[in-house]
Amino acid sequence: MDGGATAVARAHSNIALVKYWGKRDATLNTPAVGSISVTLDALYTDTRVTFAPDLAVDEFWLAGCRSDATRITHVLDLVRGYAASMGLPTAGLNAVVSSTNNFPTGAGLASSASGFAALALAASGAAGLALPARELSILARHGSGSAARSIFGGFAEMHAGTAADGSDAYAEELLDRADWPLAVVVAITEHGEKSINSTIGMNESKASSPFYQAWLDSADGDLAEMRGAIHDRDFTRLGELSEYNCLKLHALMLTTRPALIYWNAATVAAMHAVQGLRAAGVSAYFTIDAGPQVKVLCRPGDAAAVQHAMALVPGVHEARISALGPAAFRLE
Ligand code: PMV
Repeated sequence: MDGGATAVARAHSNIALVKYWGKRDATLNTPAVGSISVTLDALYTDTRVTFAPDLAVDEFWLAGCRSDATRITHVLDLVRGYAASMGLPTAGLNAVVSSTNNFPTGAGLASSASGFAALALAASGAAGLALPARELSILARHGSGSAARSIFGGFAEMHAGTAADGSDAYAEELLDRADWPLAVVVAITEHGEKSINSTIGMNESKASSPFYQAWLDSADGDLAEMRGAIHDRDFTRLGELSEYNCLKLHALMLTTRPALIYWNAATVAAMHAVQGLRAAGVSAYFTIDAGPQVKVLCRPGDAAAVQHAMALVPGVHEARISALGPAAFRLE
């Protein structure tokens, strides 16, 4: 093969302001609800993909360690399908995938979002395909629902879609990051891997929480309100709604059987610290995914004060300031 069989891509993590939780179709990995996120400049994954004739299986290397390639192969199979339809020689080849994250993996910092977005872009590029952003978003979604949003920078919205083949379940950019610069302070309260992965958690919530239907029924209202807040550049509305939607998600998680308790003591202390910042006149709002980390939304001018306050919270190991990030891009 010539050099065309390798590609390297970088994709940034994202944090949802209106969250995705629940699947419409497990096989297609389509979400039961839409979601809206901001892409984070400070957290990213770099992924190199090489299709080669001498590989017996797909190989996945994460931070230099050989790792389980099952979910990677699922996305690579879709790429090979596209390549076959175009008559490309990469259609019949296995691949080596090497990824590095510049942040802790699997601890609720959305490494699957940046990871599968980088994989979608690098794998399609290495295969010789030039897929439009919408197709990349769908490809990334097959690896992880939130990854569909990490194809885009700034503010992105993921559509739940209604099509049986998943063709309308993709993300798109709502607003460029330059049009409304915001900051996110990421308070890291734990470096270990999280205990329950999101797919299992979503299935358990659907099967057992009495709040699941209410979660589905209220999603469109939250999405419409968030779109409005972004359109109007109304930070207070964006922040209040982000906290509300986050706590609604965690109410759903807490009422799942067995309960999904992703918080630790420092997570809760950080939430109180954010309320304390607001009481002191700093406009800051928290949001939390399926893990113990706390992300604090604020205006760029308040980011240093928010970082300082987060770093003082007992149990917070590190507080990183992030601007809003760019769309996924090729690194060569
Ligand atoms: O993309 P997944 O399957 O890891 O699910 C992500 C779920 C949340 O992070 C909790 C919410 C979201 O919209 O990102």
